[in-house]
Amino acid sequence: MKELLKQIREKAIAEIEASDRLDEIRIQYLGKKGELTAVLRGMGKVSPEERPLIGQLANEVRAEIEAALAKKEEEKAKKELENRLLSEKIDVTVPGTPFTAGHRHPLAQTEEMLRDIFIGMGFSIAEGPEVEYDYYNFEALNLPKNHPARDTQDTFYITDNILLRSQTSPVQARVMEQTQPPIRIISPGRVYRADPADATHSPIFHQVEGLVVDKGITMGDLKGILELFAKKMFGPETKIRFRPHHFPFTEPSAEVDVSCFVCGGKGCRLCKGEGWMEILGAGMVHPFVLSNCGIDPNVYSGFAFGMGVERITMARLGIDDLRLMYENDVRFLHQF
Ligand code: DAH
Repeated sequence: MKELLKQIREKAIAEIEASDRLDEIRIQYLGKKGELTAVLRGMGKVSPEERPLIGQLANEVRAEIEAALAKKEEEKAKKELENRLLSEKIDVTVPGTPFTAGHRHPLAQTEEMLRDIFIGMGFSIAEGPEVEYDYYNFEALNLPKNHPARDTQDTFYITDNILLRSQTSPVQARVMEQTQPPIRIISPGRVYRADPADATHSPIFHQVEGLVVDKGITMGDLKGILELFAKKMFGPETKIRFRPHHFPFTEPSAEVDVSCFVCGGKGCRLCKGEGWMEILGAGMVHPFVLSNCGIDPNVYSGFAFGMGVERITMARLGIDDLRLMYENDVRFLHQF
């Protein structure tokens, strides 16, 4: 029996050292049907004198096997941890993957600046559809069918009465139909014209419309607002200049120039020697337009203006070809 116990001890310890399957070994020797347990069951056959000795030896063997198992388990856990640390190691000196952050498109930047400036002066934002009725795009704005001024804004017709809006001015009519004065809105948006693309034309471009209607609004208010706008947009030294013009929906009408912010009016490459850059059309809302939209021109007056976002962006950033802004070449866009 003593020999058997010693054999079991040797065999178990050798197996523990050689193998990783510790749970199986534990069951094989110490389990209910295990080899050591079987020996202890046979204790009844041992003579009473030998029993304590055998019992003691059996306990020793069990303790040794358990100790060997515990030691091996500890080693195994340590090894696993080491492997994990090794495989999950992060080399902080490896250069990262470059991440190029984008930014807003120059046209979107300009539109945001315009919004900020006019919101700061108490205007709110109005919106209108890009697919528009002929009525709002032309008729309500004092451009009846066959009016010659329609030719300057030839656009894309969907039916005889529905078109892609050629200007943001129809939003004026829509707002006036919906709201009684005081009105103070701007309306940024996309417009369409049947123009072939070149350095200064594009079949799609952007405008910002402005409209103020209230009692006692004068051309002085228009000038004041536009002067403040020009100084905020192009710098405090900027001057504005009104040139008489004709728009069917305003009377009187003007084209408005700003002094070139590069040369201050002396004439340079950016302003093509003019000293001035044209940026918008404006005027006092025509009484016909007011009454077309349900506002009494004997009580109220107003002014309106419309500016080209592309043109202002080109002036602001010194860009000389409008097409560059639509090509989306990041080498170009990254400069702004
Ligand atoms: N809608 C005009 C255009 O596209 C610009 C314009 C001129 C708008 C005078 C106005 C205005 O509101 O009063 O050429």
